[in-house]
Amino acid sequence: MAEKDFSAWLAELKERNDIVSVVSSYVRLTRKGRHHWGLCPFHHEKTPSFSVNEDLQIYKCFGCGAAGDVIKFVQENEHTDFNGAVHILAERAGMEVPHFGKEDSQAEKKRNELVSIMNAAQEFFVKSLSLPQAQKARDYIKGRGLSKEIVERFGLGFAPEGWENLKTYLTGLGFPIESINETGLMSSNEKRVYDKFRNRIMYPIADDKGTIISFGGRKINPEDEPKYMNCPQTLLYNKSQTLYGLNIAKNYARGNPLIIVEGYMDVITMHEFGFNTAVASCGTSLTQQQARKLKRYTDKVYIGYDGDSAGQSATVRGLDILKDTGLEVFVLSFPDGCDPDDTLRKFGKEYFDGIIKNAKTLEEFKLERIFSSNDISSNEGKLKAAKQAIEIVSKIQLDMERERYIDMISEKTGYSKRAVLNDIEKISGKNSPKENTIRNETPQKVNNISNVALKYKNSAKNNDSSAEARLICLMARDKNCAVEALKIVNSTCFADDVCKSIIEAMQRVFDGDLPFNASEIIANIKGDDDAASKAYDVLMLDVNSLDLEAETVAYANKVRYQFYMRRTKALQEEANKMIASGKLGDEECQRLLKEIERLQKLAKEIRQ
Ligand code: CTP
Ligand code: MN
Repeated sequence: MAEKDFSAWLAELKERNDIVSVVSSYVRLTRKGRHHWGLCPFHHEKTPSFSVNEDLQIYKCFGCGAAGDVIKFVQENEHTDFNGAVHILAERAGMEVPHFGKEDSQAEKKRNELVSIMNAAQEFFVKSLSLPQAQKARDYIKGRGLSKEIVERFGLGFAPEGWENLKTYLTGLGFPIESINETGLMSSNEKRVYDKFRNRIMYPIADDKGTIISFGGRKINPEDEPKYMNCPQTLLYNKSQTLYGLNIAKNYARGNPLIIVEGYMDVITMHEFGFNTAVASCGTSLTQQQARKLKRYTDKVYIGYDGDSAGQSATVRGLDILKDTGLEVFVLSFPDGCDPDDTLRKFGKEYFDGIIKNAKTLEEFKLERIFSSNDISSNEGKLKAAKQAIEIVSKIQLDMERERYIDMISEKTGYSKRAVLNDIEKISGKNSPKENTIRNETPQKVNNISNVALKYKNSAKNNDSSAEARLICLMARDKNCAVEALKIVNSTCFADDVCKSIIEAMQRVFDGDLPFNASEIIANIKGDDDAASKAYDVLMLDVNSLDLEAETVAYANKVRYQFYMRRTKALQEEANKMIASGKLGDEECQRLLKEIERLQKLAKEIRQ
């Protein structure tokens, strides 16, 4: 099926799957004007900040920032990819999914080629592990206690000594060197391209579907550095989205918690001992993307970081990210200086079971951290620790849950339970109940509405941005309006960067003859996720208009007028400077004054 036909089919699919009715089958929505509000399904919240816009057929959560169209919503909620979501929606609407030639696209072709190279490299590394010169590697693996079965399950291999073994193998298979280079498996200098991994144990890294997207390599010789080498970020591999072992662990996760550890070897040994839900963040701190990925497979996670790193603040931030994504978080503690791999090897499976049984809640973990990092033998330290502690407990909603932490704070500090409780209530009273009632009545006034949205919403100020934002919202709601507006303004007329990027995206949608709707516009925003997220904020603003087209034209003129005024002001300042330094007679100054006059005339024409 041609790309064009497919996008028409997709437009029909979206039309037949109204976002409000699709979302309603997952989330209870309350209607307020053209917006529908509910509790966000993508993060844990008690008051609604998840909004669905009927006109634009998009959703946005002002709490966690999740946003998208109906397809994205189903993708996230059903833990599936674009294709999967399309199938679900097609079935819902009684439509047949055509065979669409996705492999036609250039990017898809490139991706497929890189995956083929990764698969070939994997074959090479596995084969190399049986070569005579791999004796040391086999000894190393044996020395770490790994069984043949687990080595195969995780696809461990060996990169032999030498500069061009893999390169020669891959080029011999006919892969072009430019493509081989794009996998991250090669290094290069001015003179040549050579194997990045030499004399290392190789760990293939897969995405959650099991496609190999990267490799890590561990040194065998103690004197080599660094201990681990990794492929750089590539077209296939995005470090912040990947969790090592998830492709295997996900099969055991249904209903069971996932266990997040730090290293490749931790994951492998844990699987060896039957803890099949272990995954690794691979040395980096956890990201929101990783958290969302985990949330696809489980509601509960254990964190099993090395004893020495668990207390670090980067770790705590990572834990908060997990919690904010709606996961229940527990923290495991290991004997000093031991990671999960060491612990299993030294103390065995039963001991490890005990560690899991004694997992701490995130709050418990944080409180212990507070009490161990403050000197609670002094009055000053005690008060400081208690203050930090009640801040944490005040965020817990259930009184029953709070109770045990209150006991703990009182026990550690010696303050009475009564005093601790009173102070907690003071803090939580300040933070929540009042705000909650306001939120429930008029969710649009939520406190956590993003700053960007607030800036545009604040139309009382009537600044240039708010007129620009309003114009954009009007345009996005109706193709004809957009066409009319673009006869009056173009992106240069916009002062606001976000608005400017949306106008440019609209132009791209027209130029590409794509279906004109909000999700297509957002898909054409240049820049990162942040740019798209800000665009959502603007597009989700409320616009009620009795005469859409008339108002669009009026606002387009207003934006153009503002543009002339800004330009005039800037030129006037320049001219004033020249005049002040006695350059009134200069050709440049005269040109400026003429231009100002021209702009003023244009502006006046609009005003008439
Ligand atoms: N890591 C890395 N680069 C390094 C060191 C570590 O990418 N130079 C990553 C690896 O993913 C590693 C994880 O951080 O698995 C944890 O590092 P570390 O605790 O040092 O290694 P271990 O996993 O304990 O490795 P081993 O048991 O093989 O020594
Ligand atoms: Mn280790």
